[in-house]
Amino acid sequence: MRIGSLELSSNLFLSPLAGYTNLPFRLTLRELGGLGLATTDLVNARSLLEKKSKALKLIETRPADQPLAVQLFGSVPGEMRDAAVYRAACGVAAVDINMGCPVPKVCRVGGGSAMMTELAKTAELAQAMVEAVAIPITAKMRLGWDDQNLTAPDLARALEDVGVAAVFIHGRTRQQGFQGTVNLAGICAVVQAVKSIPVIGNGDVTTPEAARAMIEQTGCAGVSIGRGAFYNPWIFAHTQHFFATGQLPPEPAFEERVRVMCRHLDLMIEVFGEPHGCRMFRKVAPWYARRFGPANVFNRRVVHVSTTAEFHAALEEFLRWRRQFLDAHGHLKPQYRPAPLVASFMEEPSASRSHQIPVPKGPMETW
Ligand SMILES: Cc1cc2nc3c(=O)[nH]c(=O)nc-3n(C[C@H](O)[C@H](O)[C@H](O)COP(=O)(O)O)c2cc1C
Repeated sequence: MRIGSLELSSNLFLSPLAGYTNLPFRLTLRELGGLGLATTDLVNARSLLEKKSKALKLIETRPADQPLAVQLFGSVPGEMRDAAVYRAACGVAAVDINMGCPVPKVCRVGGGSAMMTELAKTAELAQAMVEAVAIPITAKMRLGWDDQNLTAPDLARALEDVGVAAVFIHGRTRQQGFQGTVNLAGICAVVQAVKSIPVIGNGDVTTPEAARAMIEQTGCAGVSIGRGAFYNPWIFAHTQHFFATGQLPPEPAFEERVRVMCRHLDLMIEVFGEPHGCRMFRKVAPWYARRFGPANVFNRRVVHVSTTAEFHAALEEFLRWRRQFLDAHGHLKPQYRPAPLVASFMEEPSASRSHQIPVPKGPMETW
């Protein structure tokens, strides 16, 4: 898989989830394998140029966190170009332009999804960035503003013409938010609109089978996974294995899930310090717990932890309480096993939505 001059080890990408896809999470995923390219949360180009500490924290990285793209948002061409130059000089692998963020604060100033409504202006902004740096410039967008304005195919073609190296496309419109089914035909229209750059499909990929279906049904070159990675950090390794062998690896054992959750917390504390790292982990741990079976005792306590000791005390209590749900071999009894997730585009139209992935709460609830 190539994006411009950048050669990647897989065609699987981590989608930015503001507030979640920080350095500790990316390192956790990379240790599990299969991830081709990760992207930071969106960062305001101007804040980066002004070297605001919050913006610098968002792009914090380490040698083990490579290759990494930085995602910029903004609508002032000079700022976007200069921020790209600044990041390229710091050794990032690629710069991604956010054209999908529906948050009013971002769109009001002409950034995020608003860029999909102004094709010529957006292409001009991207061109200035492409011409200023040697690393690939990519763009992440939705299908369009709403169903009446599906601009993504035209925008992708215009961006390719000015040298953008790849397009990431979430198969929903800005108006849709996270409602409804991911529109594979819409992604396919973007694939068909470009001449040769890779188009990466995105939206609701929660299983290796869903990744394969998206690639087969749209012709996209790879898939980008956001919430699915949060729900199942093994998804990249498992999908890569599935693509290579046609076989699904076994689900990780409960002990392995607990080990990875604890590793994630340790990295969180390394990067953010103990009190802040633990507080941030309050919204992370319940996502691991989704695959633990009954976990209300854990979820109730973990949202109050401020120290590693409190976290481990909550975990110990949970492990004791959980024994009642286990069989003689120490496995969850069948009736307590969590149901598998199903991607929106893999379900019968009449199916209930209960097996679909929720939208995480956080600073960007309206994404
Ligand atoms: C909480 C949250 C934060 C997000 N932050 C970003 C962001 O910073 N930049 C971006 O381009 N997309 C962002 N997105 C959109 C995701 O990257 C992705 O396009 C979307 O979640 C669909 O993919 P998924 O179903 O695999 O999660 C965010 C989504 C959520 C739920």
